[in-house]
Amino acid sequence: MAQSAGLHEPEDRLSSETIDRHRAIASIQEELEAVDWYDQRVDATTDAALADVLAHNRDEEKEHAAMTLEWLRRNDPVLDKHLRTYLFTSEPVVRIEAEPDAGGGDQGPDSLGIGDLRV
Ligand SMILES: [Fe+2]
Repeated sequence: MAQSAGLHEPEDRLSSETIDRHRAIASIQEELEAVDWYDQRVDATTDAALADVLAHNRDEEKEHAAMTLEWLRRNDPVLDKHLRTYLFTSEPVVRIEAEPDAGGGDQGPDSLGIGDLRV
């Protein structure tokens, strides 16, 4: 289990939304940690059939991580904004941050990401 899997504040001081996001974050950590472990086991085994099974299992963990990340995105507007800015781009990441509209600006979830066209 990831080192930070537990709550860090008394549960009665936390909203149900924060606790659910915590559950999702802990799950994503666990899924990605499993991906890392499977990757290492695939590399280490000398049995090709076992490597195939482990690689299959590893890739399912990636799907689990992606599904949970999507839930988290839908339940965290700031994360949603940052994911919309940085994911599925090809520019150097730090260049994206330096752009005037970095962070999504005032683009809504239905924006095509082309910014304000007013002159
Ligand atoms: Fe999983």
